[in-house]
Amino acid sequence: MTLVLGIETSCDETSAAVLQQTAGGEVVTRSLVILSQDIHRVFGGVVPEIASRAHLTALVPVVRQALHEAGASTDTIDAIAVTYTPGLVGALLVGVNYAKGLSLSTGIPVVPVHHMEGHLFAVTLEDANVEPPFTALLVSGGHTLLVDVPTWGTYEILGSTRDDAAGEAFDKVAKLLGLPYPGGRHVETLAQTGDPTRFVFSRPMVHRNTPPTDAAYFDVSFSGLKTAVLNAVRKSDDLERDKAHIARGFQDALVDTLAEKTYRAARARNRHQVVLGGGVACNQTLTRAVRARLESFGASVSAPTPRLATDNAAMIARAGLFRYNLGERAPLDLSAYASAPLPGQV
Ligand code: KG4
Ligand code: ZN
Repeated sequence: MTLVLGIETSCDETSAAVLQQTAGGEVVTRSLVILSQDIHRVFGGVVPEIASRAHLTALVPVVRQALHEAGASTDTIDAIAVTYTPGLVGALLVGVNYAKGLSLSTGIPVVPVHHMEGHLFAVTLEDANVEPPFTALLVSGGHTLLVDVPTWGTYEILGSTRDDAAGEAFDKVAKLLGLPYPGGRHVETLAQTGDPTRFVFSRPMVHRNTPPTDAAYFDVSFSGLKTAVLNAVRKSDDLERDKAHIARGFQDALVDTLAEKTYRAARARNRHQVVLGGGVACNQTLTRAVRARLESFGASVSAPTPRLATDNAAMIARAGLFRYNLGERAPLDLSAYASAPLPGQV
């Protein structure tokens, strides 16, 4: 049996989790504690310095709580999996330095985890049948990645965003519409009452005649869509009346684009399984659209539930367990990085 303590502090969630792998290979989430830093709401976005300080205050009790809920202790933990990239460096450093300190005092090895590999593994915590090969669409506040996954640990990035991440686009549009931060779920709720015919924005980068050899075939771009929303907001003489329709038009354009790109990626590599991950995967309109588009191709689509789609330490512990079983260990000079390629990127 292997017990992994996961630690996540890359942005504004302080999270710790304990995962157990039985001798038979089954993985069980023994505990998951997530403390979301509410304070950023009043600033309309994450303030890095405040995030770091809040992690510093919260991390020790959050780890203690996770160990307590799992009935585990540092005497029984085999590995400490910690996010070391990508994210806010000051925030990441709190988790990385804590993990190294705990390792030095207990002898438990540290396993460095790439946050996006964590998002990739998230759905397996709820559906153990999800195994490569598959196409993954990772959509978070900072990243939009279309990845072909022939095996765990081998990642071919087919497409990514050329400007804003999908979650970032949701958050910026939410701000334009006067909704709270983070705005993704508020835009989704508002869009439910919107008329899809009132504001029809063009779908970015889905030209039918782009060949698969062109990077534009898989890449996305949301800054033009965001500007179109800004213009619609400026032109509106009654934003209260129009905002649900604008939210609907924006979400439909973004979701259609992601569904089309995911379909292209699955078809290009002949994958019949699609995995979604990241905070934007909470969006039901997105998951429905991806399912509908991929159905024609006979592909199944799996998405984590919101608690595991958004930032959490269970997914970090899961990716860490995979790396631990490969024999990977962090050196004591492990640092934090704002960005880095996925390990195993081909
Ligand atoms: O993965 P995540 O928790 O953090 C990052 O790694 O960035 O993703 C957070 C992002 C935010 O931009 C948030 O607005 C978005 O996920 N999000 C949503 C929804 N729920 C969260 N976007 C659209 N629809 C949602 N229901
Ligand atoms: Zn994330």
